[in-house]
Amino acid sequence: MRAAIITVSSSRTNADDRGGPALAEFAAGLGAELAGRELVHDDANEIADRLVHWADQSVELILTTGGTGLSPEDITPEATVAVLERQAPGIAEAMRAASAQHTGHWMLSRGVAGIRANSLIINFPGNPKAIEEAGAAIAPALPHAVALITGESGPARSHESGSSTSASH
Ligand code: MTE
Repeated sequence: MRAAIITVSSSRTNADDRGGPALAEFAAGLGAELAGRELVHDDANEIADRLVHWADQSVELILTTGGTGLSPEDITPEATVAVLERQAPGIAEAMRAASAQHTGHWMLSRGVAGIRANSLIINFPGNPKAIEEAGAAIAPALPHAVALITGESGPARSHESGSSTSASH
């Protein structure tokens, strides 16, 4: 599995970006190989361009950090939804539910998750602590999620053909 990491921020630079390294650590913990890490501005076209770029490379996991809040420049969820083919709301819901254990501001992240081609795209909040906190909740499901998206989890609909021996979904 490969992972691409995008920090979304108009104020951070590569020198003081802490979200990108935190996401890289998260991806490494999943056993993912780092396909690339980059920083883009809070610009919807720029964000969408980079998401499409990594999806075109069939990078299985595309993780963003930042720009999910309520301030006028926060545009990451909209830029992400614009390129998603299907949403995976349970992932974003699980992240917010986990964040609620840590901060009353959990509800201020509008992050989304979903699928484009063979890629699973997930928006994390900008706070590096949030990556650890919300990431822990979704990490156990991500290998199976990626296997389903890429079709590497065996016959996708075996449970519908009456088989009781198919892997759990
Ligand atoms: N979730 C966790 N787990 N930890 C946090 O510190 N910060 C919240 C929220 N979710 C936070 C969190 C805050 S203060 C905001 S404004 C939103 O995420 C959005 O953050 P972003 O605009 O940096 O993406």
